[in-house]
Amino acid sequence: MLLKATSLSLKNRLDLNGPGHHVTSTLAIPFRFHSTMTHQATVVTQAPRPLDAEQAQELRELFIAIGYSQQNLQELTYFTVPPPTDVVTEEQLQIRPTDQLQQYDISRLAILIRLFYFGMPVIHEVAITALGESLAQACIDAGMLAQTGDELVPKILIMPVDDLFMASDLQRMDLQDSLNYVPTLCEAAFNLHNTTVTGNFKSGLDLCSGFGLHAVAMQSQCQQVTATDLNPRAAEFAAFNAALNGQPPIEALTGNMLEPVADRTFDLIVSNPPFIINPDQITTYRFNPKPLDELFEVLIRSAHQHLNDGGVFQTIGEWVEFSGQDWEERLKTWTANSGCCVWVLTANRYLPSTYADIALRQSIVDEAQRLAEVARWESYFQAASVEAIHGGLIFMRRTTGNCWFETTKLSQALNQPVGKDVLEGFDVRELLNDEDWLIKIQSRKLVVADGLQQSEVSEWHLGRWKTTSIELATTSGLVVAMNVDQFVRTLLEQFDGVRTVDQAVKSFLTKCSLPEEAYEKGLHIASSMLKTGALRLHSEA
Ligand SMILES: C[S@@+](CC[C@H](N)C(=O)[O-])C[C@H]1O[C@@H](n2cnc3c(N)ncnc32)[C@H](O)[C@@H]1O
Repeated sequence: MLLKATSLSLKNRLDLNGPGHHVTSTLAIPFRFHSTMTHQATVVTQAPRPLDAEQAQELRELFIAIGYSQQNLQELTYFTVPPPTDVVTEEQLQIRPTDQLQQYDISRLAILIRLFYFGMPVIHEVAITALGESLAQACIDAGMLAQTGDELVPKILIMPVDDLFMASDLQRMDLQDSLNYVPTLCEAAFNLHNTTVTGNFKSGLDLCSGFGLHAVAMQSQCQQVTATDLNPRAAEFAAFNAALNGQPPIEALTGNMLEPVADRTFDLIVSNPPFIINPDQITTYRFNPKPLDELFEVLIRSAHQHLNDGGVFQTIGEWVEFSGQDWEERLKTWTANSGCCVWVLTANRYLPSTYADIALRQSIVDEAQRLAEVARWESYFQAASVEAIHGGLIFMRRTTGNCWFETTKLSQALNQPVGKDVLEGFDVRELLNDEDWLIKIQSRKLVVADGLQQSEVSEWHLGRWKTTSIELATTSGLVVAMNVDQFVRTLLEQFDGVRTVDQAVKSFLTKCSLPEEAYEKGLHIASSMLKTGALRLHSEA
């Protein structure tokens, strides 16, 4: 749910998924909503043909030299993801150079932004000043640009994501819910990308791959990568994007969910499925086509069956909370007997009316029409006894040890890679879910997380300041906030990476004049601080 057009602030919202997925605009956008859709349009543009290795390298080098990066684009355009080409305004196309970007040739960068970020035509002669003759011709030959009169008209968008350049269909309001539409980067994709666990894997699967961001990103850490999607055009974009990024071809399969890999297993499975929960059972890149969250449930129940030992399945999505039912218990039943440890990172919980409103704001501008739709969605949720809708990430790691299920509430959006932190979180939980954890933890060395922030509130009481609350928040990795008391704060201060847990807890007892019986309590507090990330395992290296 990422809509600048609403009163919601895009930057500070903790919303990993966004039922709207990717349309982010400062504009009020008129849109014919598809609730009663009987016919879905089709994208007729052909996916581009892969560039040869030299051309791809030349284009990447040009993008890098000119400053066509995710950060620069955001800074220049104020968009995280550009608005659809059919509603973008001339005003929005104006970029605003900042001092930090002086090192770049802004006029050339502006041309590339116009072509490949906003998907707008540029006069041929002008385009050549940015691309050069031969690269412009290569783009035309590949079907990335079309010559129309004296203009070069883009056929695709190219989104920089970290050090990758990812091509997708142009964003068009009228085509975004076509069956064969290949969407560009959305907030959910970006968050999944940022949380993708790191390591050296033999095999990786990008399930519901779309333009293949996760597949291409996985190529640097998996010997063999497979991408699957219902939409055959996704396979063509995966091929194009692998080549564009100088990677070997990806095995790209077409078919329903896990069917194309029915008899195969992987070390890493990453998925951003269509998960918006809605009353209309249509198949698009974003709407869950089954009742409520059924597609997501089936995914969670089945994907882990395709994991090798120690393998990780991770997905982003949304699930419902029924009235009178604990949603965690429901998710536990989905993952029971999976042979996996399960870690759920929750980001948001919306009441149905808010959920519907945010989702629909993305596609319906007319207030009356939107409110009518919101009411229809609300009745659907009400009839199904849905109390709220949750969004977040679910990780499952196949284990031969104890299986556990834990949830953590994130307190901030993920805007940096945290794959390593996710794995550390799994290791910590593995340690703490061991039967002998109370013994095992005593010899470990812990350290307070770098950058841990403390906010203290005090009030004047009987002639002195009295602390009423202390909040700690991690500032790197998975950002989590927690309320603690002065005892916990003092305990934390004992962990310096040199003392063992045993020594640190004993030192805390002495400092606070606490009896020996409080020792085990100290171990429990240290373990929960370890889970939040306020304390981290200290590596001897
Ligand atoms: C939200 S998009 C994600 C695309 C891309 N992985 C990303 O993260 O940007 C969901 C993708 O799932 C595909 N999809 C929809 N229904 C599917 C199904 N039943 N089986 C496989 N893929 C499906 C869509 O074509 C779309 O590419």
